[in-house]
Amino acid sequence: MITATSIAQIRRVITAWKKDTRTICLVPTMGFFHDGHVALMKHGQQRADKVVVSLFVNPAQFGPAEDLDSYPQNLQTDMQVAEEAGVDVLFHPAKAEIYTNDHQTTVCVTELSKGLCGQDRPQHFPGVATVVSKLFNIVEPDMAVFGKKDYQQLAVIKKMVADLNFNVEIIGHEIVREADGLAMSSRNAYLNKHERRDATILFKALTMVKQQVDMSPAYLESQPLLREAETFIIKNSNCTVDYLAIIDSSNLEPKSQAIGDCRIAGAIRINNKVRLIDNMAL
Ligand code: PAF
Repeated sequence: MITATSIAQIRRVITAWKKDTRTICLVPTMGFFHDGHVALMKHGQQRADKVVVSLFVNPAQFGPAEDLDSYPQNLQTDMQVAEEAGVDVLFHPAKAEIYTNDHQTTVCVTELSKGLCGQDRPQHFPGVATVVSKLFNIVEPDMAVFGKKDYQQLAVIKKMVADLNFNVEIIGHEIVREADGLAMSSRNAYLNKHERRDATILFKALTMVKQQVDMSPAYLESQPLLREAETFIIKNSNCTVDYLAIIDSSNLEPKSQAIGDCRIAGAIRINNKVRLIDNMAL
């Protein structure tokens, strides 16, 4: 595996691959790899000749009071995991390589970035869209894989690619879960033993809603389902609910009834500390 830290270095590798008409899959990450990341890397290998994994903790997508400074990192282990997963290049640039001091441009997918996680984190999705568009211009991949745990992120990136005519296929990969249902996330590393137990409450609440929708012969109203799920979370854990919503799977608009291609999505805070998100197709 090649480890590239500069844009010039990775561009030399990409140019050589393109000359040999190799297809390239990019897996953008912020590191601290778990099995969810490995699944994205392996999927990339099935789909393209070469896999590039970017590892960059992107400051632009963190708000002022968020966890940029404490975001978990372990470069040595990540390099080993990526190598064992068969990744061709790990692109690990320093902050100054991606954002020069006079950087001024932001990419913003206006409407899709507003609701759900965007309500509490207004600069998050513009930060994501900006760094992902930079990575697309640096790596020029044929395709890129993103996990569906960050469902709103996936929708934002698909829209950005369509609106800005990026020639990149966006692949959404199914959520990889722990045995008890918790969606894998680097942020799970923040959880102590008690919080880890509480963390499954979101998966349980989403599953409860899914079961009710799946079992009902008639279309169910969203509001009572969501209220019941919120009460379930609050009563059975030390968690608060940032949001729970039944949304249209493509435009993320809230739906008053669970009809058609829709999902339940939610975000909780454990002990007012760690924020976790999850979603499920209904
Ligand atoms: O999902 C993530 O890890 C990040 O938001 C991404 C896509 C790598 C952009 O920094």
